Amino acid sequence: MTYKAEYERSINEPEDFWGEAARLIDWETAPSRILDDANPPFYRWFPDGVLNTCYNALDRHVDGGRADQPALIYDSAVTETVKTYTYRELRDEVALLAGALVEFGVTKGDTVIIYMPMIPETAMAMLACARIGAVHSVVFGGFAANELATRIDHAKPAVILSASCGIEPGRIVEYKPLLDEAIALADHKPHTVMMLQRPQAVATMVDGRDVDWSEAVGRAAPAPCVPVSSTDPLYILYTSGTTGEPKGVVRDNGGHAVALAWSMRALYDVEPGEVYWAASDVGWVVGHSYIVYAPLFHGCTTVLYEGKPVGTPDPGAFWRVISQHGVSVLFTAPTAFRAIKRDDPDGVYIKQYDLSRFRTLFLAGERCDPDTLHWAEEKLGVPVIDHWWQTESGWPMVTNPVGIEVFPVKAGSPTLPVPGYDIRVLDDEGNECEPGQVGAIVVRLPLPPGALLTLWDADERFLDAYMEQYPGYYASADAGYMDEDGYVYIMSRMDDIINVAGHRLSTGAIEEVLADHPDVAECAVVGVSDELKGQLPLGFVVLQAGADRDPAEVESELIALVRKRIGPVVSFKTAVVVKRLPKTRSGKTLRSTMRQIADGEEWKTPPTIEDPTVLDEIAESLLAIGYGT
Ligand code: COA
Ligand code: AMP
Repeated sequence: MTYKAEYERSINEPEDFWGEAARLIDWETAPSRILDDANPPFYRWFPDGVLNTCYNALDRHVDGGRADQPALIYDSAVTETVKTYTYRELRDEVALLAGALVEFGVTKGDTVIIYMPMIPETAMAMLACARIGAVHSVVFGGFAANELATRIDHAKPAVILSASCGIEPGRIVEYKPLLDEAIALADHKPHTVMMLQRPQAVATMVDGRDVDWSEAVGRAAPAPCVPVSSTDPLYILYTSGTTGEPKGVVRDNGGHAVALAWSMRALYDVEPGEVYWAASDVGWVVGHSYIVYAPLFHGCTTVLYEGKPVGTPDPGAFWRVISQHGVSVLFTAPTAFRAIKRDDPDGVYIKQYDLSRFRTLFLAGERCDPDTLHWAEEKLGVPVIDHWWQTESGWPMVTNPVGIEVFPVKAGSPTLPVPGYDIRVLDDEGNECEPGQVGAIVVRLPLPPGALLTLWDADERFLDAYMEQYPGYYASADAGYMDEDGYVYIMSRMDDIINVAGHRLSTGAIEEVLADHPDVAECAVVGVSDELKGQLPLGFVVLQAGADRDPAEVESELIALVRKRIGPVVSFKTAVVVKRLPKTRSGKTLRSTMRQIADGEEWKTPPTIEDPTVLDEIAESLLAIGYGT
């Protein structure tokens, strides 16, 4: 079967294509209908199918001959621990944890927030929710109390699962004080907090609300899998929108299971029984899909790694894990490779390990610069596959589909549309662009199984954010083009999202925090280029008239404020006080020109500018702090 034939069948006969893929999943009731298109753009896949996601990830493998195969290897470089769970052990642990949730009154359809570090219990927590039909929402540990509070108020969890701390190189991040603060800030109060005590920090418990994880699991009875409708929500994953209010991407059970199970062989070319490692965090979509669900649906062994690519203890960390656990496929972000390359440019550490079972490297999460791609290809001697996707899609939309057919790599392009994704490039009028012409990257509806159903409790925002700009298409908010061979090139975001170390962040959300400082009259945040992290946020602020403050002092207060309100993951390290912001005559701040100046790119004074001298002032302020030329 060639890619072309597979792709065309997926687009022209989607029901046939996905009906066949649905056989990769064990259904309690197999779907008799494949696509419900009665209410576009709210398409639903396998509408009358009934299944359980946790059963498909664990129980069916225990029953089907993989009971003693490792399901999950926890490798913690920061605590120097390795622990392996077989499919039977993982199923049993998850069933008990699910039993504890049931005892706390959690039932099908209830929401549960998971605020946890990279430990096996986090994956167990997700699977335990799936087991009883509860809807999980994992919140990344690098977010501050405020962000967590916003998600608590929006998702309204009955129960929160957490752990006493995360471990970052050189410091213990105590989660409990952040969680307590978040619950105090939120209007919605969960009735139970289940707290896993890690030895590195002991959490103080709140009487009547907090329960000890081990005790609760110790007295629980294992819970069976609860059958749910294919279209019932499996999880909510919040991601940055254009404002401080995050978007709660909703994924279903059936479409998600089918798409992810299908992707493992077709896109990642991996077989059941092989070791698959996504070096990401379970708090991000890559972690949801390719640390937890997809490898387990497919009967692989997944690696859950607590550590960094460098410094834990050295730039050989990834090669140590690959050789020690026999990893076949690694998936990570280009930033991780830029960090390794920076610390080990000649690849000396690579040569110290046996990487003979390592077959393919996949990169995603941000634009893959050709230097990093070529360095990885040369030093590792395996194919390096850049692929493009988003929290919204949940799995790749553009890739080199190596399990179907291998295409020549063109640096800078993630290659070809994935079967199921009818990718087009449109101009401002909604007409299709010529090859090579940059436009908006969109996907013709319906989106395939596994993509977002809607935004949690926000159907209108879903329509407004993704569906209304180009009727009949999903607007990805990425700009790019296709070449004459159909290769897709992703160039930049069209909104105010920036990508910092593969982490998606909103400059609008940072601006909201800066604007809250009492001495700030106006502000603008742009994403400037960074050699390691791809982009970094840079803030410009104008002080209130009459604010008699030392600019340097305000700048450091602003840096602390962003860290406190949004979290360390933003890496907001530079704010600069300026006299004025450059504006158009209609009052729009000229952020892209400011970014060009900061990046030392050639820039032109926009004809719509109100006062061109402001740009010179900006350039001068930037030069003083080492930006621009
Ligand atoms: N909990 C608490 N704090 C966290 C955290 C977590 N889960 N994850 C990150 N942070 C903190 C870090 O400690 C750091 O704090 P600091 O400002 O005090 O140093 C800050 O957030 C920024 O983190 P990060 O972006 O990870 O930078 P880093 O300097 O610690 O590490 C890299 C740089 C390149 C090694 C790291 O970004 C990396 O491994 N990137 C891979 C990207 C990735 O996995 N992306 C996921 C999408 S596929
Ligand atoms: P997230 O939702 O966090 O996965 O971030 C999605 C965004 O990251 C996309 O909209 C792109 O802007 C960017 N992105 C992800 N993968 C790639 C890639 N392979 N090439 C270029 N940009 C990417």
